[in-house]
Amino acid sequence: MSQFNIAVLAGDGIGPEVMQEANKVLDAIETRFDVTFNRNAYPVGGFAIDTEGEALPPKTLAGCEAADAILFGSIGGPKWDTLPLEKRPERAALLTLRSHFDLFSNLRPARIYPGLEHLSPLRADIAASGVDVLVVRELTSGIYFGQPKGMQGEGEEEFAFDTMRYSRREIRRIAIAAFEAAQKRRGKVTSVDKANVLVCSRLWREVTEEVAKQYPDVELEHIYIDNATMQVMKNPAQFDVMLCSNLFGDIISDECAMMTGSMGLLASASMNEDGFGLYEPAGGSAPDIAGQGIANPIAQILSAAMMLRFSLNQQAAADAIEQAVVRTLEDGVLTGELLNSDQRHNAASTAQVGDAIVKHILSQE
Ligand code: NAD
Ligand code: IPM
Ligand code: MN
Repeated sequence: MSQFNIAVLAGDGIGPEVMQEANKVLDAIETRFDVTFNRNAYPVGGFAIDTEGEALPPKTLAGCEAADAILFGSIGGPKWDTLPLEKRPERAALLTLRSHFDLFSNLRPARIYPGLEHLSPLRADIAASGVDVLVVRELTSGIYFGQPKGMQGEGEEEFAFDTMRYSRREIRRIAIAAFEAAQKRRGKVTSVDKANVLVCSRLWREVTEEVAKQYPDVELEHIYIDNATMQVMKNPAQFDVMLCSNLFGDIISDECAMMTGSMGLLASASMNEDGFGLYEPAGGSAPDIAGQGIANPIAQILSAAMMLRFSLNQQAAADAIEQAVVRTLEDGVLTGELLNSDQRHNAASTAQVGDAIVKHILSQE
């Protein structure tokens, strides 16, 4: 019997709603496989500000440190938007966790499954062209973390500034992660940058070229971010691994999510050099639909599958979850955002989607 300690940080908005379904799925995995997940829930984000006075209370950080992996929901919302940046849930909790655990390598897989092209907002022939993209996003540096950042001056001359900064070491390690991933996929890395304008992007290209020499079996191409966002819509099948800096990866990954049908389908893994990771949907707390029981729980459930695959080495269990998710989508058990407006009255609730996935897991042999 394998046993793992999981820190469960549900957070705000739809976070607790979709986390409940991920927990059901982990229960089903315990039933079917010889594994136990000791799950400890901790407050985080706006909820933690309201209940504990800060977005990342010491007991939450200590719980994460003691865990084998972190399963994270989502944080933030209008209620906490007016706080100073450093106290907001996004920075005080999520960015702090990423930085604290050095979770530099963010993997965001987006795939249009054969037979599920109708879920994509792309034209049918484009959706059917074989879309399977892995966004590899640098997560602990770049313009998110560069210093100095702040404001200076007065009146109309007052100005704000952020610093985009990348070291060779930071670029090299995320490039290596992208090439390693490409070797296990279709052998192509597309590095996304703005090397026609940004000094950081020029260094990014130089180091990426150096890394490419160690991977002669992987093809490397460079693309500017503006063209990349257009090409993702025009011809997504050309992409295998998209290697991105922190900000560009944030933008491209939402676009890749939507290409598959919904923000609520995109899972992510954020890992450090030791394989320790935080697993969360790429989307946010979705305040516009929170509290209604209609959010899509699949991104959260697939994030749990990535946790099993990358941090806990439970490959068969991860496969079982992914298979059950595809079956559920094929069955047409879909939350409303995946349906046309005239079909929305047939929408499944968050809990119904979770239940359908559990049923498939328990009936697989
Ligand atoms: P969002 O991702 O929360 O929502 C964007 C759109 O996608 C909304 O229309 C929402 O309803 C939809 N959506 C997202 N997830 C969905 C799901 N599972 N099922 C169905 N629809 C879904 O982005 P936003 O509105 O820009 O941000 C809201 C808050 O979330 C902000 O405070 C933001 O900072 C925060 N945020 C947090 C995370 C995180 O915790 N990892 C990620 C992104 C945004
Ligand atoms: C994401 C989110 C975060 C980011 C926010 C909430 C800080 O948008 O994980 O994509 O920008 O990285
Ligand atoms: Mn984002």
